[in-house]
Amino acid sequence: MRISVVGGGYVGLVSSACLAELGHSVNLIEIDKKKVTCIKSGHSPIFEDGLDEMLAKHINLNLKISSDYNDVPLSDATFICVGTPQSHDGSADLSMIKAASHSIGNVLRDSEKYHVVAVKSTVPPSTTQQLVMPIILENGRIKDQNIGFVMNPEFLREGRAIQDFMKPDRIVIGSSDIKAGDLIATVYHGLNAPVVRTGITEAEMVKYASNAFLATKISFSNEIGNICKRLGIDVYEVMKGVGLDHRINPYFLNAGAGFGGSCFPKDIMALIHLAERLEEDPILLKSIITVNEHQPKRMVDMLEKKIGSLSGKKVAVLGLAFKDNTDDVRDSRSIGVILDLKNKGAWVAAYDPKANVSMRSIIPDIDYCSSAAEALKNADACLVMTEWPEFSSLEKEFDLMKSRIIIEGRKILSCADCEGICW
Ligand SMILES: NC(=O)c1ccc[n+]([C@@H]2O[C@H](COP(=O)([O-])OP(=O)(O)OC[C@H]3O[C@@H](n4cnc5c(N)ncnc54)[C@H](O)[C@@H]3O)[C@@H](O)[C@H]2O)c1
Repeated sequence: MRISVVGGGYVGLVSSACLAELGHSVNLIEIDKKKVTCIKSGHSPIFEDGLDEMLAKHINLNLKISSDYNDVPLSDATFICVGTPQSHDGSADLSMIKAASHSIGNVLRDSEKYHVVAVKSTVPPSTTQQLVMPIILENGRIKDQNIGFVMNPEFLREGRAIQDFMKPDRIVIGSSDIKAGDLIATVYHGLNAPVVRTGITEAEMVKYASNAFLATKISFSNEIGNICKRLGIDVYEVMKGVGLDHRINPYFLNAGAGFGGSCFPKDIMALIHLAERLEEDPILLKSIITVNEHQPKRMVDMLEKKIGSLSGKKVAVLGLAFKDNTDDVRDSRSIGVILDLKNKGAWVAAYDPKANVSMRSIIPDIDYCSSAAEALKNADACLVMTEWPEFSSLEKEFDLMKSRIIIEGRKILSCADCEGICW
């Protein structure tokens, strides 16, 4: 099939490469010219395991990238993968969805060839029908029978995105007409996953409900972890026992510094905003956020209890990405921790295997180190914020510190004298 993808970020670029790998002819449209140049040369502007190799295999062959929408009418389907970040009031900012819909409508104007527009971005229920469809239909003056609309939420996890795209737990296709849904189902032929067919608004809500449930598991584990810590109980042993219950399952029960990233925080906030607009009080959703905001603060509190005033102390922060295997620092728990440390007068030396550059654009005025050892040298304390596998073998590097005060926000170290936030 010929497929257009709008937005070459974490979702759009991975989807484009994987769709090319599935044998489709992909036309990726990205407005950021720097990203276009980088991708055109066969390099990914983001770090994602296996993505460079996949790009090198398909770029300029069955995967083309540019900033113009002119080839959209030649495609069978267009996937919208632009960002839906959090607005200042907590709602989802849909301005990029609007702009992309305008551009798609413009190039599909008076088109006679059947085309399906599928929204992959995470959007609040009704967005596809009340925003995307009217904009494209009005701009495009397209006859109803020549266009279909689908909501096809994406569930990939950064760091394991290619694997998740190629081996998804499920493919959710929300459509109001069978023909449009069937066409999008065809795109995924060859993938071995159950296909769940729903209405459009149901598919939009599946994504928010999934993320809210996963975030609930994390905040729940953190709260149990905080109680366990007081009692001297190892929450990881507890959750191992809990997770083996098939009704619960072992995933997303890792207590620690809380969740960050480009999805959970903003999606829960968007759901809270939506609920409140409907005059519902989303008590549980609000608590998920409250617990999550407290966790990183607990790390700095623990540190102060151990070493007193942080003024003038050197603190090594290991891990800046919101999780391992990515360079994404959006809403990373380390941001709040670093800002807190800075406010208290500490000197921060940070190290991340992949995310130093992305964090520098948010917090420029700390020391960025090229290894854990460099960050740890003469440090008064160390906070571990990301579960990078390479941290598990750190041992003698901690001897470089002035004093071995090590607090883990993620359970990853193997040395005996570190203290966990909830364990
Ligand atoms: N990142 C994830 O792990 C993930 C997982 C599932 C779903 N999602 C959802 O997918 C959507 C995209 O997320 P992301 O992380 O890929 O965002 P991103 O910010 O990494 O990428 C979005 C890209 O779209 C480009 N863009 C913006 N407007 C455009 C336009 N009009 N035309 C062409 N390109 C345009 C931007 O330049 C950017 O490169 C969001 O709604 C997000 O919630 C993200």
